[in-house]
Amino acid sequence: MATNSVSKLSMLVLGLFWLLGVQFVQCSVTYDRKAILINGQRRVLFSGSIHYPRSTPEMWEGLIQKAKEGGLDVVETYVFWNVHEPSPGNYNFEGRYDLVRFIKTIQKAGLYANLRIGPYVCAEWNFGGFPVWLKYVPGISFRTDNEPFKRAMQGFTEKIVGLMKSENLFESQGGPIILSQIENEYGVQSKLFGAAGQNYMTWAAKMAVGLGTGVPWVMCKEEDAPDPVINTCNGFYCDAFSPNRPYKPTMWTEAWSGWFNEFGGPIHQRPVQDLAFAVALFIQKGGSFINYYMYHGGTNFGRTAGGPFITTSYDYDAPIDEYGLIRQPKYGHLKELHRAVKMCEKALVSADPIVTSLGSSQQAYVYTSESGNCAAFLSNYDTDSAARVMFNNMHYNLPPWSISILPDCRNVVFNTAKVGVQTSQLEMLPTNSPMLLWESYNEDVSAEDDSTTMTASGLLEQINVTKDTSDYLWYITSVDIGSTESFLHGGELPTLIVQSTGHAVHIFINGRLSGSAFGSRENRRFTYTGKVNFRAGRNTIALLSVAVGLPNVGGHFETWNTGILGPVALHGLDQGKLDLSWAKWTYKVGLKGEAMNLVSPNGISSVEWMEGSLAAQAPQPLTWHKSNFDAPEGDEPLAIDMRGMGKGQIWINGVSIGRYWTAYATGNCDKCNYAGTFRPPKCQQGCGQPTQRWYHVPRAWLKPKDNLLVVFEELGGNPTSISLVKRSVTGVCADVSEYHPTLKNWHIESYGKSEDLHRPKVHLKCSAGYSITSIKFASFGTPLGTCGSYQQGTCHAPMSYDILEKRCIGKQRCAVTISNTNFGQDPCPNVLKRLSVEVVCAPATTAAEPNWRG
Ligand code: GAL
Repeated sequence: MATNSVSKLSMLVLGLFWLLGVQFVQCSVTYDRKAILINGQRRVLFSGSIHYPRSTPEMWEGLIQKAKEGGLDVVETYVFWNVHEPSPGNYNFEGRYDLVRFIKTIQKAGLYANLRIGPYVCAEWNFGGFPVWLKYVPGISFRTDNEPFKRAMQGFTEKIVGLMKSENLFESQGGPIILSQIENEYGVQSKLFGAAGQNYMTWAAKMAVGLGTGVPWVMCKEEDAPDPVINTCNGFYCDAFSPNRPYKPTMWTEAWSGWFNEFGGPIHQRPVQDLAFAVALFIQKGGSFINYYMYHGGTNFGRTAGGPFITTSYDYDAPIDEYGLIRQPKYGHLKELHRAVKMCEKALVSADPIVTSLGSSQQAYVYTSESGNCAAFLSNYDTDSAARVMFNNMHYNLPPWSISILPDCRNVVFNTAKVGVQTSQLEMLPTNSPMLLWESYNEDVSAEDDSTTMTASGLLEQINVTKDTSDYLWYITSVDIGSTESFLHGGELPTLIVQSTGHAVHIFINGRLSGSAFGSRENRRFTYTGKVNFRAGRNTIALLSVAVGLPNVGGHFETWNTGILGPVALHGLDQGKLDLSWAKWTYKVGLKGEAMNLVSPNGISSVEWMEGSLAAQAPQPLTWHKSNFDAPEGDEPLAIDMRGMGKGQIWINGVSIGRYWTAYATGNCDKCNYAGTFRPPKCQQGCGQPTQRWYHVPRAWLKPKDNLLVVFEELGGNPTSISLVKRSVTGVCADVSEYHPTLKNWHIESYGKSEDLHRPKVHLKCSAGYSITSIKFASFGTPLGTCGSYQQGTCHAPMSYDILEKRCIGKQRCAVTISNTNFGQDPCPNVLKRLSVEVVCAPATTAAEPNWRG
């Protein structure tokens, strides 16, 4: 009886606390309707995705440090099952896959981690992160209420949670991990799979929570996520999102900072003004956790790219570029945004906003805490016009599609559309490390009598045969052509038709390349149609089917086919059509060069290589090329320029840097306006250029001397055109407007209270060890264009160059105040002027180049 009343009483107290919104801090990370709480404190958290296998361990510290300096609190990564468990029960946590080291690097930098275990990750990663062997577990069906799948998924999730626990990496143990994710964007699948989907999702949540990590679990894009799992939003915008329960915080686990690219497509970019606008929108509506996907995209080394057809570069137009260099102005503008939001943190987490209208498309969101903190967000949703609004008896000028942040409800410290930070010009420059002698070896196309082949009647699905151990599968058959066939006597050649389910095919007739055909990410199925030239007697038809990354998204993608499933038929023979689909086919997995390990320093001498000059005379398809080079001095990131080549793979010192393909980008590369809803087709670059010309060569993979470069070329390019380049900041630009004389409070808005002390300034800064050697462009007036293509406008102060030269030449950094007096006199009174500058950065020891004026 006594126990009963005690428990009733405690229930009552608990209920009372709940009503009052009091949190029980049993573990150090918890949540309420406003935010994630760490050690009892509600936090507005900025996070960024950096996927550990997409860079090298040597890069991790630098990337994470840059993330910290960019104003992030959290680093997020998926966990990639297929690299960790290449065969059942055999684990690999070495090198790029050293997850513990990665998380400890985050910890050492003083940041938190969000571990998105999945284990389904999507991520444009081969097979969405699932090991290919998983597909061959008897009775398996992925991501649904299926015992073999659930057993395997639980096994891997437990393995990862166990590993993290054993290293004390959860926040509840004093480690950096504050959040974990189970599954990934399951909502759409769940709906398609009905009850089975719902059962699986509920099971997954329960299984994860049962692992007792002491930190919250999230499910992204899963509106039914059961308590206590938090459902979160992914997208280009998430301001319309709210969680499925009123007591969960509003979280955005993937704020897409750019987009991925596919071979043959243009480069996608997202203007930072729009990204910053989307983030500010989310915060003003009460969102308290934002993860940039990606903050550093990196590289799909080896055959890790999914898709199919995803490029080796996973640059993503992220704030840190593929090579680990900061991308300006994206990085700097977001850093300023983070600073501005952090100034509002107290008000944001302790109050709900009061929303008022400031015009037809303008609003104010005001957060006032009990202790008197006030923060305001003034927004202009109009995509075409700036707006002059009145707020708290002051005027504010809002550019189109922008939000101003006022951490004290008075002074604007940031506007999403006003990019004040400098832009950096990054270029691929030649290195002084030439490729030494090129030698070549032609892949043997006559695989027929090889002992490693198998035969079958009919056409087999590619992955069932290769188990994805290689991109390549040979399908070989033969046809007997009678000497009386008409085409041998002047008649029309027969036509070969090959229907493939993906992803590319090269057709060899009697050992000679007779044509190729390729699918695309949208149309994996494609048909090859081409004339064939046979001789009388037996002819070999060898089809080299090439996978370009396995699918990573789509309902039951594990059942999707790859390879040549037919029909394969010859048309135009005297007998009419000859269907070869059910003929005897010989199969060979992979290339001979792969089997002999030609790519590695150990296997290289197993064949006779042909000297480069001979090979260059007649570039052959299916050819291995090798060369040696010394590591260039310095520490700029390196890449290989593959412009003169076709399609294949690249290895350095035996390690694969990935697939290359000089497919030219088609698309619409018209100008892109930041204002208005962003979607990837809106802002495209690189039309008419190879989608990917440069391939990252991590410095850490090089020895000082004699590095082995091996290239396997499918189509036939000229290897002597291959060169090593370095990614360098060659120049910086800045573009800053003077204050508007007619807007009284403009100076207060942008630069603080005192007009004299806080006039706008142009800041220019080269990388460490570099200095400003010349002024490529300088104009105070009404200059036109953007960084790299500035031009003088109708108004130009003649002293512009002199001032910049005097202040900046020979220095690593400089600043110039924007005022008429600084430039002699006002070059055009009553006109709003700006200063646009582009300078050249060069190693500090180099003598100054003559400037470009003359
Ligand atoms: C999301 C997915 C990510 C990634 C992204 C596109 O839907 O969760 O893993 O694939 O799309 O880059």
